[in-house]
Amino acid sequence: MYKASQGIEATPEEQQATNIVTKYLTQFLNADKVVFAFPLWNMTVPAVLHTYIDYLNQAGHTFKYTAEGPVGLIPNKKVVLLNARGGSYSEGPAAAAEMSVNFISNIMRFFGVQDLSTVIIEGHAQSPDQAASIIETGLKQASDAAVTF
Ligand SMILES: Cc1cc2nc3c(=O)[nH]c(=O)nc-3n(C[C@H](O)[C@H](O)[C@H](O)COP(=O)(O)O)c2cc1C
Repeated sequence: MYKASQGIEATPEEQQATNIVTKYLTQFLNADKVVFAFPLWNMTVPAVLHTYIDYLNQAGHTFKYTAEGPVGLIPNKKVVLLNARGGSYSEGPAAAAEMSVNFISNIMRFFGVQDLSTVIIEGHAQSPDQAASIIETGLKQASDAAVTF
């Protein structure tokens, strides 16, 4: 992608990799609304989602650098994050350790997204006796969010 941005010729393998990045980046840029549905895995996102975010992080497309610092380029996209995690991270010291919702939220804000909402189902592994009601409540919140999305 760097070579392409600088007009440097890419090898066939690099061109193939660049085509994949461009395909997903274009799909994301063309969408009015985007749903990210992801679990918390080992305090962060699954590697495939990290790779997807790497595809989207392209200066000149989702953000740009200015003399005043980086500016997001997609302020009008509507984004919702649907997250599930077995433990509870919404409050206390665990909140800072959580790097999936925090990560994707930070990236979306970096891209300039203003309409960002989140539905989290959490604690069903930590509190198995409450798992059924935690999941039921969370799924209801997801259904309600879908009505206005
Ligand atoms: C590989 C792996 C790692 C996980 N790491 C965490 C974790 O760090 N913290 C946590 O609270 N739950 C963790 N979990 C539990 C999942 O977040 C939980 O099962 C969640 O419901 C997964 O979403 P899903 O039900 O949509 O698959 C992990 C699960 C797996 C399979």
